[in-house]
Amino acid sequence: MAANTTTMETGTDSNNNLYFPPKDIVRKANVKEYETLYQQSIDDRESFWAAEAKKLDWYKKWDKVLDDSRKPFYKWFTGGKINIVYNALDRHQKNATRNKLAIIWEGEPGDVRTFSYHALNREVSKFANILKAMGAKKGDVITIYMPQIPELVIAMLACARIGAVHSVVYGGFSVEALAERIHDSQSRILITADGGFRRGKTTHLKAIANEAMQRSATIEVCITVKRTGEECYMENDRDFWYHDLMLMPLDCKDCKTEVMDSEDPLFILYTSGTTGKPKGLVHTHGGYAVYTATTHKYVFDIKAEDRWWCAADPGWITGHSYIVYAPLINGATIMMYEGAPNHPYPNRWWQMVEKYGINILYTSPTAIRGLMRYGASWANRHDLSSLRLLGSVGEPINPEAWKWYHEVIGKNRCPIMDTWWQTETGGFMITPLPIMPLKPGSCAKPFFGNEIAIVDDHGKEVQQGEEGNLIIKNPWPGMARTILHDPQRYVEKYWEKYQQQGWYLAGDSARQDADGYYWVIGRIDDVIKVSGYRLGSAEIESALVSHPAVTEAAAIALPDDLRGNIIHTTVILREGIAPSDKLADELKEHVEKEIGPIARPAFVIFADKLPKTRSGKIMRRVLKAAAMGLDTGDLTTLEE
Ligand code: PRX
Repeated sequence: MAANTTTMETGTDSNNNLYFPPKDIVRKANVKEYETLYQQSIDDRESFWAAEAKKLDWYKKWDKVLDDSRKPFYKWFTGGKINIVYNALDRHQKNATRNKLAIIWEGEPGDVRTFSYHALNREVSKFANILKAMGAKKGDVITIYMPQIPELVIAMLACARIGAVHSVVYGGFSVEALAERIHDSQSRILITADGGFRRGKTTHLKAIANEAMQRSATIEVCITVKRTGEECYMENDRDFWYHDLMLMPLDCKDCKTEVMDSEDPLFILYTSGTTGKPKGLVHTHGGYAVYTATTHKYVFDIKAEDRWWCAADPGWITGHSYIVYAPLINGATIMMYEGAPNHPYPNRWWQMVEKYGINILYTSPTAIRGLMRYGASWANRHDLSSLRLLGSVGEPINPEAWKWYHEVIGKNRCPIMDTWWQTETGGFMITPLPIMPLKPGSCAKPFFGNEIAIVDDHGKEVQQGEEGNLIIKNPWPGMARTILHDPQRYVEKYWEKYQQQGWYLAGDSARQDADGYYWVIGRIDDVIKVSGYRLGSAEIESALVSHPAVTEAAAIALPDDLRGNIIHTTVILREGIAPSDKLADELKEHVEKEIGPIARPAFVIFADKLPKTRSGKIMRRVLKAAAMGLDTGDLTTLEE
């Protein structure tokens, strides 16, 4: 039986491995039908997006929905005036949402803080005024480096409220990664914390921030939130405590939300690429607000009374779009948790689902696999009946983990939304809707407005069922507009390969089945996904080469049951330096210190030479085959 996407059946079709949504979910869904609406959204994309944009509050309506006069530098809702924070906070102050919880936050040690929409607005206003007092202006880039605490959200929103551009650096990153991002964005202000709690230990963010500020000298003002209370070095005239500043009797506690152009930048988020330094992708106020709010509302079927938990870190795009902006625009209650899912015991998440009555949980395959290891008994101790929908993101989810999630957590009644998207896309691109039959491991169908295809290197569509390059044929409002300071790289990386056709190259390999469902296989470039986090082989290699013992290095990904991938590195040592286990450990430590614990290589192998093409490119595919004990394939382009 073909997967009719508007079927009303319930239960499982075990032959086809199709999972049908419960009738109740279908009956109450925000979108009740896919095929016709999808076709309409493709036939008249601009009308579809204009209708969605009208649901937001604009200071001035746009003149043009889509400006494609300078492809691939598309613009959306040009001439429109908006601020995403007006939609996330200000407009809710005028109705009952004002007194509703915006954030329920739990720290790893068990401390709890909650913010109503009114309280969040007040805190954001206060902090926005402080940023202004510190000289922050519209268009300035402000770097945020924090653990998952409410002040991280407050800081992001405060920046956006005054028209400053935030650049959030994931709190698990280390010195080099932070210094590089500060330098690239030329930030004058850094917002950080003394540390955070993770697996019962404290992290020392301020110490890392201090070292990064030494390496990258642009920071003039550093504001630190006290979280752990551990001592840290504060420099006169540069360093301020957040709580001291928040006590300042500012003239006016209200901070007017800045009127922005639709296309004004909202944030920069760095992401790893194939070569060279991380790319600072730029997202905007208007199109991003429309895209994230719409995808969130339709895919996760958001209702006013929902308690939504996106268990990602705000330091990644998932957190930007679906912890902070989309849920606030949609007036949902956000659950946030600071720490590890298995601390102190593997029931920590399930305990919180029960305690707070969470309705929707959105997480990553790596987290699910990690919790699956402990078996069902930890989840079975808790009442998870508040859950209605589940979600997955970050990497392909293996059917075994999907089924465990569906059965043990969702009790066979919560559809799983496996959303495929990227930092570059701003929001979901290929995803089921709650009304669709699901196939474990498939991210189902394109979201409204999107035309997806699987093509070969020449742009020819591959046969159904065959693997090929995943491309997007159309612009969409949530797309990143450029790479900071490097528009040329933006063109080369995403648009050059299919320049003639004007298609976006996602960098993923995928196939489409006979029912039109998409199956993403993985990256085609040298991006390494470890536990769903995106790392560039180039970043890891340059961290290794920054060690005095190393002259050259190559990093590849090897498949791993738990983390998706692990990092395998091959290094060439300087003359006269002997390989040893001790040195291998030292190099692992070094990468961890430079980039962060997620980048720590699982293997450091010493070699005399790296396999290279005649043009000098490292042939990572050869290293990978060798490391996995497979045939190394065609070696005709190998230099020696
Ligand atoms: O390879 C795809 C994988 O994650 C990449 C994007 O990584 P990042 O920019 O860090 O964003 C992650 C969160 C949106 C993609 O190119 N990916 C993401 N979601 C899925 C996925 N692979 C398979 N299935 C998914 N649902």
